[in-house]
Amino acid sequence: MKINFYKIFVRSPLLLIAPEIVWKIADLALTQKWFWKYISKYFSYSHPNLKTNFAGIELDSPVGLAAGYDKNCKYLSSLETFGFGYLVGGTVTFDPRPGNPKPRMIRIPKQKALINSLGFPGKGLDSAVKVLTNQQMSQAERFISVSGTAIAEITQCIQQLEPFCSAIELNISSPNTKGLRIFQEYDNLKELIEQVNSVRTKPLIVKMPPFKAGDTLNQNNILKLCKLVSEMGIEGLTISNTLPTKNPKLAIGEGGLSGAPLFDNTIRMIKLVKSEISEKTQINACGGISNGKQASEAINAGATTVQIWTSLIYEGPAVVKNIKKELVSNL
Ligand SMILES: Cc1cc2nc3c(=O)[nH]c(=O)nc-3n(C[C@H](O)[C@H](O)[C@H](O)COP(=O)(O)O)c2cc1C
Repeated sequence: MKINFYKIFVRSPLLLIAPEIVWKIADLALTQKWFWKYISKYFSYSHPNLKTNFAGIELDSPVGLAAGYDKNCKYLSSLETFGFGYLVGGTVTFDPRPGNPKPRMIRIPKQKALINSLGFPGKGLDSAVKVLTNQQMSQAERFISVSGTAIAEITQCIQQLEPFCSAIELNISSPNTKGLRIFQEYDNLKELIEQVNSVRTKPLIVKMPPFKAGDTLNQNNILKLCKLVSEMGIEGLTISNTLPTKNPKLAIGEGGLSGAPLFDNTIRMIKLVKSEISEKTQINACGGISNGKQASEAINAGATTVQIWTSLIYEGPAVVKNIKKELVSNL
C-alpha cells in the first residue's frame, strides 16, 4: 500500500488548527523558494498531449491555480513549482481591504469542501505592482484576477497589472463582497466590458457566478451575461465561482461553498454556457475538480482548461501532477 505522506503527516495535524492560521503557516513555507525549487522534481510531469492553447497563450498543461489562494501575488513563483500550467494571482483590488470579520473560513472535511466569507482581504494594487516587479516566473503563465465596484478602479487595476501577466481574469462573482453584484446586471456589465475593452491589451477572462439547477431566473440571467460578454469579444469565461451558502459559524452568517460538492453543477453549467457563446470564447472549468477523470469530463463538456483551489488543500501539491497524469491517460 502506498503511504500518502501529505495526508498523514501534513493534512491530519493541520486539520486541527484554524484554517486561516494554517494558511499563514503555508504562506510562511512558501517564502522558502529554494525549498520548492529543490523538491519541484517530485511534482514535475509533462507530456506533449497536455499542451494547451488558451486565448493564444501556450500552456504546458491545462491545469491552473484558481484565483484567491495568493491574493497579493507574493508566492506565485513558489506555487508554480507544483506543476501548474498557469496560476491566477489575486484577486487584486484598487485599494487595500481588510476583508470581512472573522471567523470567515470553515472546513467541511467529510465533503472535501470549504466555506469562506473572506471578502477580498488584500494589500491593494500598489502593493501587487511592487511585488510583481520583483517576481520571476520560470515555467508557468501568470494570470491576474482583479475586481472592484467602480469601473475606473477596475480599469486602473487592469492597465497597471497587464505588464506582469499573460491574461486578466475579471471577477464579478465573489459572493462575499458588498456591491460586486452590480456587475451581474446586464447594462452595468455591458458598460464595464466596454470600458475594459477600450483600455486592455491582453486576453480578458470574466469569472461568472454559479447558477443552480431549478433556479431558472438566475440561470437565464447568467447565461445572458455569458452571451453578452462573448459577443463583446472577451477571450475567456471561468465557470465558475463559489456557491453562496448560509452558515452560522461564519461571522457574517454566509459565504461561498467550494470543493467536491460543486463538481456536478460545474459540468452542467459548462454545457449550458458552451451552447450560448461564440466558438472564440474559451472556458476555464472551476469548481470541485480534484482528479484527472473530472478534469477530462470538464474538457469534454466544453472547457479548455481547469482551475483548482480546494482540492489543493485536501489532496496536497501532488494533486496537480496526479490530475495531469490521469488526464493524459483519459485524453
Ligand atoms: C478561501 C478561498 C478564497 C477565494 N478567493 C477568491 C478570490 O479572491 N477571487 C476569486 O475569483 N475566487 C476566489 N475563490 C474561489 C476560487 O477561485 C474557486 O472559484 C472556487 O473555490 C471553486 O473552485 P474549487 O472547488 O476548486 O475550490 C476563493 C476560494 C476559496 C476557497
